[in-house]
Amino acid sequence: MKIAVFETEGWEQRAFDVLADGHKIQFFSEPLSKEKPGNAADAEMISTFIYSDLSREIIQRFNRLKLIATRSTGFDHIDTEYCRQRGIVVSNVPTYGDHTVAEHVFALLLTISHRLCEAIDRTRKGDFSSKGLQGFDLRGKTLGVIGTGNIGQRAIEIARGMGMKVLAYDVKPDESLASALGFRYAGMDELLGGSDAVTLHVPANKKTHHLLSGPEFSKMKDGVVLINTSRGTVVDVMALARALAEGKVAAAGLDVLPEEPLIQEEAELLRSFYEKKYDLERLLSGHILLNLRNVVITPHNAFNTREAVERILETTVENIRAFAQGEPQNVVVGKD
Ligand code: NAI
Repeated sequence: MKIAVFETEGWEQRAFDVLADGHKIQFFSEPLSKEKPGNAADAEMISTFIYSDLSREIIQRFNRLKLIATRSTGFDHIDTEYCRQRGIVVSNVPTYGDHTVAEHVFALLLTISHRLCEAIDRTRKGDFSSKGLQGFDLRGKTLGVIGTGNIGQRAIEIARGMGMKVLAYDVKPDESLASALGFRYAGMDELLGGSDAVTLHVPANKKTHHLLSGPEFSKMKDGVVLINTSRGTVVDVMALARALAEGKVAAAGLDVLPEEPLIQEEAELLRSFYEKKYDLERLLSGHILLNLRNVVITPHNAFNTREAVERILETTVENIRAFAQGEPQNVVVGKD
């Protein structure tokens, strides 16, 4: 079969070598987009990461497409409804990096609690004074974990290991998990009111869109810390910017923003607005967050360790192979 692999470079491409016997593989370093559709319209399988545009308009160009093997856990970048209509199977990588992302949660939280950005900035300038750099302990504090799936569970284990208490909320609570890991499920309001830091681990979908907005921020403890490594749309960034300005939220560590690729340059930001691609208010609030001292932002990099990427590639190759052998695995959208 003909396979087009987007968003890969260098050593990552070699992971697909094992498929070369029997399949024709084309690689594209760019994400799949309207501007850069790649010369692969006859591909029967495509594999992308999350920056590819997999809207109906783009998928329609692949008239022989049978499989989309996304190299991610989340699949909100894919028009799954259209895939269902066309009988295109979508497979994902369910658990490549639960520890990896959970470690990043604590990288962000510790960066905030130990004021690492300011401290490192200062010593790089040759200033070794610790004046004004006092942080706070995590031990003894309460972490609110929203979503106790794979990543949420690993975050809870690390939190417990650091001596934190954990309150959790999930639409499908699992009491045996709670007693095994030593945490307690609570309603959303109790979690918001009782947590010193809140971390999000839910998928992006219609129900989780703006799960945290103005009313939720107002229920939080004064001076709470918010960590988001799930998806940008789960948090209403305008409400977050307001809560930060009012001091309700003391600091935020964000690996994800609603308009990740677009907020890098002002010119790009304005162009998107004039092309009516995105909502300017949302873009601007993302842009404002980038420049706040009490907000730490990483570029959707929580998953990005050598080991996690190796696991992503291994599972994706297995997903492709299993599909080609008529036994698809890790299916998130099936033929029916
Ligand atoms: P998972 O599917 O194992 O767990 C998600 C949990 O959220 C489940 O327990 C589910 O019951 C719960 N949930 C769903 N809707 C909910 C709602 N409305 N309210 C409360 N709980 C709800 O997913 P996993 O592996 O833990 O990943 C979570 C998310 O993290 C992914 O969907 C993805 O968007 C994001 N992610 C981010 C990465 C990064 O690099 N920043 C890397 C990998 C995943």
